[in-house]
Amino acid sequence: MTKPKVLYVDDEEINLANFVMFFENEFDILTAQSGKDALRLFSDHQDLAVVVSDQRMPEMTGVKLLAEIYAINPDPIRIILTAYADIRDITDAINQGHIFQYVQKPWHFNELQLILRQAVDKYRLIQQNKELLVLLDEKNQLLTAANRQLEADLALQQRLEQARREAEVKMLSQSKLASLGEIATGIAHEINQPLTFIQIALQASGRDIENGTLDLNELSADIQESIKQVRRITKIINHLRTFGRADSSDFTELSLPDILNNSLILYQEKLKVNGIGLESSTSPDLPLVRGDAVQLEQVFINLIQNALDALAGVPSPRITVDFRQHYETVMVTFSDNGCGVPPQVITKIFEPFFTTKPIGKGTGLGLSIIYGIIADHNGTIECQSPPGQGCQFIITLPAWFNHRPHAD
Ligand SMILES: Nc1ncnc2c1ncn2[C@@H]1O[C@H](COP(=O)(O)OP(=O)(O)OP(=O)(O)O)[C@@H](O)[C@H]1O
Ligand SMILES: [Mg+2]
Repeated sequence: MTKPKVLYVDDEEINLANFVMFFENEFDILTAQSGKDALRLFSDHQDLAVVVSDQRMPEMTGVKLLAEIYAINPDPIRIILTAYADIRDITDAINQGHIFQYVQKPWHFNELQLILRQAVDKYRLIQQNKELLVLLDEKNQLLTAANRQLEADLALQQRLEQARREAEVKMLSQSKLASLGEIATGIAHEINQPLTFIQIALQASGRDIENGTLDLNELSADIQESIKQVRRITKIINHLRTFGRADSSDFTELSLPDILNNSLILYQEKLKVNGIGLESSTSPDLPLVRGDAVQLEQVFINLIQNALDALAGVPSPRITVDFRQHYETVMVTFSDNGCGVPPQVITKIFEPFFTTKPIGKGTGLGLSIIYGIIADHNGTIECQSPPGQGCQFIITLPAWFNHRPHAD
């Protein structure tokens, strides 16, 4: 460890020499013969631990010198050497706390050595305190910075959370809009067929009136059928209220072949014009199902429409529909010998808006509507399309056995 620095100030050279001689082993000693010299040395040696000064010196007294030193740097420990007669002069200075100790002259080696050691200890303690304070200050600053960072992080987190919530709300309303759009498009899709039927019926009647060939029986039949189709349209639109879901409390017991026949009313003409044969087969004792008649008619209408598209330009176009009981279900196999579904898209065909048809021809909603209706009826639907063999849709719906007396 380096020796602590001690400045000794005395106007008598012999005293300086003695001091050096006694204490140079233990301390690094600087000497000055006047207050002025001492101040100069002091400004060059900021690391002085102790300043010892004689009180009585020409020009500047020891007390004055130590007071000036104190004003420049209060850390070094100040000791005054004084003759007994001068004690009164320095009492004030001691009381003001500027001076650590006074030592009476002539001093004794042991006594002054002890005082110097205590002074050095005190100085070191002060320095350590200062370093600790600096350290504390640094730590405090780090803590403050960490706190600020924490606050900033918290604020950022709150902003992110807020943004996430806003995005969620936005997404929710967007997805609501999207499903609303999907339902609206779906309704447009579904009312297209009955509207076309009504239009054709009205046009035909109009033409018959102009030509004077109006057959009242035919007109009456057309009006009856048109009213039925208007009811169908109303019912489809009403589904908007239940967001497109079937309400099973509306379900009635139905015969699926009858449902197919109802759907065919809209298509008979079209099938005939296109030379498409439709054959249906029903196994004896086919169970009924429970469901919504209009919705199940929509299933067949969409399947027929798809088959018509697939059969365009195909030689001997044919649609077959087979109804049979399969365990606890009624199984409907709806087949055509049309172009078929390419294997790479067969997993996609039930997705809404998936279509392979040109813009304006298909919206890609038919099969997704069918899928939803069948799911609402607790049924299943799948598509098989072996290459070159057209397309088959296999639907199962839970059979309703209660009507059969021998059931249970
Ligand atoms: N019987 C079928 N034969 C061949 N491909 C079919 C058949 N039925 C459906 N597809 C394929 O599945 C796709 C999706 O059918 P979907 O009924 O959902 O929509 P779309 O008929 O294209 O349009 P939209 O029914 O809305 O007018 C069709 O574009 C077609 O590629
Ligand atoms: Mg379709």
